[in-house]
Amino acid sequence: MPFRIIEGDITRLTVDAIVNAANSSLLGGGGVDGAIHRAAGPRLLEECRTLNGCRTGEAKVTRGYDLPCKYVIHTVGPIWHGGGHQEEALLRSAYRHSLEAAKEKCCESVAFPLISAGVYGYPKDQALAVAVDTIRTFLVEHEMDVTLVIFSKDSFRLDSGLYAEISNYVEARVAEDLEINFCASISQESAPSEEMPAPKRRLFARKNRMPQANREVATMAMAAEEMCDRAIDSKDDDLALRLRNLDESFSQALLRMIDEKGMKDSECYKHANIDRKLFSKIRSDVNYRPSKQTVLAFAVALELNLAETEEFLRKAGYALSHSNKTDVIVEYFIDRGNYDIYTINEALFAFDQKLLGT
Ligand code: APR
Repeated sequence: MPFRIIEGDITRLTVDAIVNAANSSLLGGGGVDGAIHRAAGPRLLEECRTLNGCRTGEAKVTRGYDLPCKYVIHTVGPIWHGGGHQEEALLRSAYRHSLEAAKEKCCESVAFPLISAGVYGYPKDQALAVAVDTIRTFLVEHEMDVTLVIFSKDSFRLDSGLYAEISNYVEARVAEDLEINFCASISQESAPSEEMPAPKRRLFARKNRMPQANREVATMAMAAEEMCDRAIDSKDDDLALRLRNLDESFSQALLRMIDEKGMKDSECYKHANIDRKLFSKIRSDVNYRPSKQTVLAFAVALELNLAETEEFLRKAGYALSHSNKTDVIVEYFIDRGNYDIYTINEALFAFDQKLLGT
């Protein structure tokens, strides 16, 4: 997965390089700087002493020593003074110089802490936005696995308005799902009978208290199912066409839709946060079995609407479910025509869900 966000301790990651949020002396400090020096051992400081410091927004590389990574890329983020002292430009520069340094060392994987978001006081939500935006810009032109390591969830701030809106949406969808399932499960009951188990009697009584509309929804849900069965036997051209397509595999459907949308392969898999190697595997194996996250990632990259997403999932043997928080969060963004996989993944991370892509 070209870009992922994880919660953890950067000193434990087995990647080619980790980035240190250092100070301009490069002689160690607190926070992640202190953690990295402690884990790397004294030889790291010895090498840092030979570097003559580092300017804010720039980066210098040392070996990783006792760390499970080959290199440590030391960068210096800006101290937050309210936002009017080039802080954003300097923070972007710190990420960009670090990524360039990783590329010069032929690193295939690099991990970042949230630079300046600790002692240096950069507002956490703005620090996150700058980090994600700078990394995604780099990944448009380069192949590298970049991990943003969040030390503890309280240092991760999704936009509060977005968080609240998604929470309400998830709650509403799950409640609606419960309601419809509950109606469907007891809609055949003519009346509560003595032998009906007590829990069911209570459910039935609840159904009677339900607004008429919900009962109609349940009935419609079942009628739609029967209609679908009838339609399969009908000569309905559109459905016949779909049925002919039923044997189209996930891989064939993906490649067909990339062509139909006039996209380049690389444009599609980068928008899906899928690495090139995996895409090549999917392209070459007509029967490739993707994970649900991969299918949803490509649905986002292809900017499919909900019905098209459902159809696409079906080709891989999956379905959207209102009892699955990931599905409901992805549905929230598709409903609003927001196909930015980085924003979707930030939201999934905030809600402790698996990210899209592979
Ligand atoms: N792994 C990952 N992230 C970590 C770890 C860790 N082991 N320890 C801390 N962090 C996170 C913090 O939670 C914060 O979100 O790193 C982010 C950056 O915080 P700081 O380490 O305080 O770095 P910064 O805000 O850039 O300030 C740099 O602090 O440690 C000193 O010498 C350093 O003077 C420099 C200043």
